[in-house]
Amino acid sequence: MRKPIVLGNWKLNGTTAASEALVASILAGLIEWDAVDVGVCPPFILIPQVIHQAAHTNLAVGGQSCSEYVLGAYTGEVSADMLREVGCRYVLVGHSERRALFGETNEMVARKVNIALKSGLTPVLCVGETLEERQSGRMNDVVRGQIQAVLNVVGIRSFERLVIAYEPIWAIGTGLTASPAQAQSMHAMIRGVLSEHDPAVARGVRIQYGGSVKADNAAELFAEPDIDGGLIGGASLKAEDFLIICRAAADSLRFI
Ligand code: PGA
Repeated sequence: MRKPIVLGNWKLNGTTAASEALVASILAGLIEWDAVDVGVCPPFILIPQVIHQAAHTNLAVGGQSCSEYVLGAYTGEVSADMLREVGCRYVLVGHSERRALFGETNEMVARKVNIALKSGLTPVLCVGETLEERQSGRMNDVVRGQIQAVLNVVGIRSFERLVIAYEPIWAIGTGLTASPAQAQSMHAMIRGVLSEHDPAVARGVRIQYGGSVKADNAAELFAEPDIDGGLIGGASLKAEDFLIICRAAADSLRFI
C-alpha cells in the first residue's frame, strides 16, 4: 500500500499569528484522518510553535531545507539534527527554488538527503525540469540525473525511507499545472529509474506531484496511478483549500 502524502510548503510566508490561525483551522478539519499523511513545512522560526500546536495530532511538521553540514562554523545554517530534535518528521531537499536561487547542485542535494536520513528525518527529494528543458525534450534526462545523483550517494535501499516530489519548475507558482497525463508519465519514468535498481523499492516509494496543485485540480492529478499526493505551495496557505486537497489525496489511497 502506498499511503498518499500531502505537504504544505509555506515558503517565506507566515507570521506568528497567521501561522497559529492556519494550523488551528487545518487541525479542526483533520480530525481522525488516517488515509493520508499530512504535514506542513513552515519557515524555520515558526517550526517550534507549529510543533507545539500540532502535538498529539496527526499533522506532521517539516523543514523547507537543511544544511549539508552536521555542525560547525556555517553561519546561517540549520542542521537536520536540529530539525529532528525539535520534532520535525520531514525535510524538503532540493526544492527548485533552492536549486535555482541558492545554488544547490545535484551533489549538494544528494549530501543533504544523506544527512537528513542519518538524522532520522524523512527527506522529500524535489526534482523537476525547466520549461526550456521540457520544450527541448530533455526533461526525462534532467530528472533522471537528479535522481541518479542521490542514488550514487545513498543507494537504492535508502529510497525506502524518503519521499520524492516531482515539481516541473514551469508549473510552480505560475497557475500552469502539468496535465495529469504529463505528470503521470514523469512519475512512471521516475519509478522506472528506481526499478532498474530494485523493483520492490520502486513500487513502494511515494512520489508526490507539485506545481499549482489547487482545490479544483487535485483529485484528477491524484487519480493517476503513480501520483501519491502533493507538495502544495500557494494553496497550502488557505486551510479550506489545503483540506480539500488532503481529502482528494485520502480518497485516492491505493493498494499495490
Ligand atoms: P505552488 O508551489 O503550489 O505554489 O505552485 C509548489 C511548490 O513550490 O512546492
